[in-house]
Amino acid sequence: MEVIIKANYDEISLEAANYVKRLVQNKPNCVLGLATGSTPLGLYKELIRMHREEGLDFSKVYTFNLDEYYGIPHSHEQSYHTFMQENLFQHINVQPERIHVPSGTAEDVKAFCQWYEDEIKRLGGIDLQILGIGRDGHIAFNEPGSSLGSRTRIKTLTQETIEDNARFFGSKDLVPRYAVTMGVGTIFEAKEIILLANGANKAETIAKAVEGPVTAQVTASILQLHPNTIFLLDEAAASKLERNDYYKWVYENKPRHT
Ligand code: GLP
Repeated sequence: MEVIIKANYDEISLEAANYVKRLVQNKPNCVLGLATGSTPLGLYKELIRMHREEGLDFSKVYTFNLDEYYGIPHSHEQSYHTFMQENLFQHINVQPERIHVPSGTAEDVKAFCQWYEDEIKRLGGIDLQILGIGRDGHIAFNEPGSSLGSRTRIKTLTQETIEDNARFFGSKDLVPRYAVTMGVGTIFEAKEIILLANGANKAETIAKAVEGPVTAQVTASILQLHPNTIFLLDEAAASKLERNDYYKWVYENKPRHT
């Protein structure tokens, strides 16, 4: 586990985009795991810029999104399908048939979830998973209490998550109560993971996820056991980490052979 602390949001977005760029250049048919929420927006803007100005080619890339609200149509303006189209997919040359976003309308949810899991495996697994973090420490929509071994499934959202997302829907009564989400176990199998967090309102959650015990009550804490995870944080999000100075020291003194 590596903790990288950058001065501000723009810097973490740029750093994350450079990781994606290197992967796409080295493995053009790589499998990217993508996240929604406001946190990865800067990363997506930078990837769009790299595509337009530097010709970064996404034509062979596969994508899998973490989650989708259950019970709203994909065309809904707040669906994660719409979010991804508007904020990334329609601006780069990723092929529509290579894009995967969980269905929020599947009638047989269980069968859909199994298909999603099988599809990830069939394409060789996720090479790089991008994550944000909810205030309650969730990754994707794996709310507190989610099994650390869970797979893609339907999940009931917490009141806190519903309140956090009410700003997008206009009122908390309009926020769906359920989501289809990759499980903690699904995410854990990604070969590389970058969790992005910015802002002081994430500081306490980040301290729990990085330095607290590994627990299903903070599902991001499982990443402490992952061999290839980076927590990419701005100063504000890192402000409650006890070993803040050490993480910076490690980053500044990285051995050349790694
Ligand atoms: C939702 C998503 C998560 C995301 C979280 C944080 O709950 N399911 O994947 O990490 O929001 O959102 P934000 O980045 O807006 O703080």
